[in-house]
Amino acid sequence: MSGGHDATAAWVAAVALDALDESLPTSVVLDDGRRLCLVREGATVHAMEDRCPHRDFALSGGDVVAPCVIECPWHGARFDLRTGAVLQGPATDAVPVYPVQVTDGMVFVGRPTGDPDAKDVAS
Ligand code: FES
Repeated sequence: MSGGHDATAAWVAAVALDALDESLPTSVVLDDGRRLCLVREGATVHAMEDRCPHRDFALSGGDVVAPCVIECPWHGARFDLRTGAVLQGPATDAVPVYPVQVTDGMVFVGRPTGDPDAKDVAS
């Protein structure tokens, strides 16, 4: 693999960058079983768990209502795509987010931010 990926790092290929429409949340299931919600904003791709912590419904059916802000389609909770933090209830818990790298037109997702084993993949 090109692009300088460390063979020991846990980067998982997710989707081609061109397959992501601007600001359109997209559900992707990785080879390791994680179901993620990906959002492309320009050259940046955000990755968060595709599960709203309020009632466990998918976030990927929601809308990007402002830069870096996704709104759950079910009860309107809003989250920061960069950190997963709750910006508006009824949800009270943050959504896990994941580091992302784009290499050769492919989107790769790393381990969860905050994972003690993720230090070798943080960018
Ligand atoms: S399931 Fe997302 S706000 Fe209720």
